[in-house]
Amino acid sequence: MSSAKATHITWHDGQVSPADREALLGQRGCVVWLTGLSGSGKSTLAHALEHRLIQLGHPTYVLDGDNVRHGLNGDLGFSPADREENIRRIGQVAALFADAGLITLVAFISPYRAGRDAARQAAGEGRFLEVYVEAPLDACRQRDPKGLYRQADAGEIRGFTGIDAPYEPPLHPELTLRTDRLDPAACVESLENTLRARGLLGSRAVEDTTP
Ligand code: ADX
Repeated sequence: MSSAKATHITWHDGQVSPADREALLGQRGCVVWLTGLSGSGKSTLAHALEHRLIQLGHPTYVLDGDNVRHGLNGDLGFSPADREENIRRIGQVAALFADAGLITLVAFISPYRAGRDAARQAAGEGRFLEVYVEAPLDACRQRDPKGLYRQADAGEIRGFTGIDAPYEPPLHPELTLRTDRLDPAACVESLENTLRARGLLGSRAVEDTTP
C-alpha cells in the first residue's frame, strides 16, 4: 500500500543537517534490519546488541515486531497485505529514527524481499544493513519460545511463516548469523564488528564499561 493520497505538500528542510546530528551523537544513524523466521533469535539479538551499544555510549533503539504490533501496527494481522503494510510502516519509521541519528535495530520476520528492499531504499544505501538471522525451521520449531509452532502444526494458527506462509531469505544480506551454530554473544560481537567496519560507530572514544 502506498501513501500517495497526500497532495499539495512540500518537503521542509530544517537548519540542522544529518552531519550535525552525527557530530553531536558521535555515530552515523543507521538501520540494522534483522530478518528471519519466528524463533530464529531476532529479538534476543536486537536487545543484546542494544544493551552492548548503550554500554559503549551509542544511542540505540529497538523496533520489535511483537511490541510494535501492540501499538502503531495494532490494526494489522498476518495476511500478506497486512504484513506488507506492517513492514512498509516500519521501514519508514526506522528511516526516520536513523535520520534522527539513532542506531535503529529492527526485529521483524519481514518475510518478503520487496518490503525489505523498500526499507533499504527508505534508509538510504550505506545506512542499511540487512542481517539474516538464520536457523533451520526445525531448530525454530524446537525452541518454540511462544508455543506458536505447536499451535500452527495443530492447525490452530493459519498462515504461519515457514509452515503455510512463505519466507523469502535475503539474497545479498550484509551479514548472516546462524543462530543454531553461534551463541548470542558471538552474534552480538559479529554485529558490532560489522557496524564498526562500516564506520557507523564513528570515532568517538568511549570507554568500554563491560565488566
Ligand atoms: S511480519 O511477518 O509482519 O514481519 P512480525 O515480525 O511483525 O511479522 O510479527 C511476528 C510475530 O508475530 C511472531 O514472532 C509471532 O510471535 C507472532 N505471530 C502471530 N501470528 C503469526 C503468523 N501467522 N506468522 C508469523 N508470526 C506470527
